Amino acid sequence: MPDLSTVFTGLRFENPFLLSSAPPTESESNIMRAFDAGWGGVVSKTIGLHPVVNVAGPKTKFFRTGVESDAITMRKIPDAALHSSWNWELISTKPIDWWVPRLMRIKAAHPTKMLIASIMAGSGSDEELRNWQTLAIACQEAGADGLELNLSCPHMDRADMGSNIGKDAALCSTVTQAVKEVATIPVWSKLTPATGDIAVEAGAVFRGGAEAVVSSNTFPSLPVIDPDTLEFEINVDGLVSSGGLGGPAILPISLAKMAQMTKAFPDKAFSGIGGITTFTHALNYFLLGCGTVQVCTSAMLDKAIGPNVIAGLNAGLAEFLDHNAHRGWTCLEDFRGMRRDRIVANSQIRRPVDEDYFGGYEGYSNDGSGTSGDGASGDDSAESAPTAAPAAKGTLPPGFARS
Ligand SMILES: Cc1cc2nc3c(=O)[nH]c(=O)nc-3n(C[C@H](O)[C@H](O)[C@H](O)COP(=O)(O)O)c2cc1C
Repeated sequence: MPDLSTVFTGLRFENPFLLSSAPPTESESNIMRAFDAGWGGVVSKTIGLHPVVNVAGPKTKFFRTGVESDAITMRKIPDAALHSSWNWELISTKPIDWWVPRLMRIKAAHPTKMLIASIMAGSGSDEELRNWQTLAIACQEAGADGLELNLSCPHMDRADMGSNIGKDAALCSTVTQAVKEVATIPVWSKLTPATGDIAVEAGAVFRGGAEAVVSSNTFPSLPVIDPDTLEFEINVDGLVSSGGLGGPAILPISLAKMAQMTKAFPDKAFSGIGGITTFTHALNYFLLGCGTVQVCTSAMLDKAIGPNVIAGLNAGLAEFLDHNAHRGWTCLEDFRGMRRDRIVANSQIRRPVDEDYFGGYEGYSNDGSGTSGDGASGDDSAESAPTAAPAAKGTLPPGFARS
């Protein structure tokens, strides 16, 4: 049996597979069962200090799509395949006093498993920043091995909380720094994918001192409308609010977000989440540079904590290492990040005919003569043209010049 263990942010994981912060990790019994089933680590359901009251109705449902039909629906349909999860569940309804003795018991029962506590507070005042510190201290004193800062819950009305922090680079940095002031254990920041360039917020939490970035939380989304009743398929008294999409549908978009960050910070630590059920899915995140991955939706649908999912992930990694033993690979580190550099600008992809293409800019040549047809004079100042603004005719931003 190959060695599946890995060291991530200084913590030794038996295997790189974690249950993410969500219903599978909302109770002591679930987390104990998860460790017994073989998960290398868990991130607890997010713990906070503010009032939490969930909606009066189902908090999570699953979209399915039919092989025979083109439906994407929460209704039961034949030959259905899982499309995604949709939820508008808030963080743990249990207070920190409820969690502390449970974290202690879990850690005592499973000293070699990694227990990460997810925490969340506001950011609108010094008192809120102290709340982050209160939560951090309580969880680390209870024996948590690491902290995950929830900067990404997509359904918070409070402007200073959840993904509203994750959308603001300055707040990302401030909150992370506040926790780092008191933390003696590694701090991971979980970012929202709902931003233009997630590498900006990743840079901010790293500047704040985070040991790792975690992504993705669920994507902001709505349930679909039933064409017969004209009601949202999940609603309370006919009303709905934005919720979060997870599961298979988000794998490719979550990978794109992750690649933005791992390319910008190739030497930093990342934990990948989004749409993982099998090792084949997880492999994508590892090849982009992630050192661990986390799972929610598929575990929810597998006896609440994913015993079959983790068995498959561990077997898949073992088989993959075995299959690639001839390359000298013995552990995750030997192949981590090896496909990160394959993601390039569209203009760097080979064209079918022998024609120059400059990403939509007018032609340019490095010898200063310009190219035919555009009247360009090969202005040297092109080298310093900003990438964000369209370049003047005949000029190119850095990175587009051809040798
Ligand atoms: C019902 C539900 C509750 C969740 N609660 C939390 C939470 O409390 N804290 C958190 O950081 N993420 C939470 N998440 C997000 C998941 O941890 C995960 O980031 C997301 O579902 C994407 O992973 P998946 O595609 O494997 O589902 C929740 C997700 C679901 C479906």
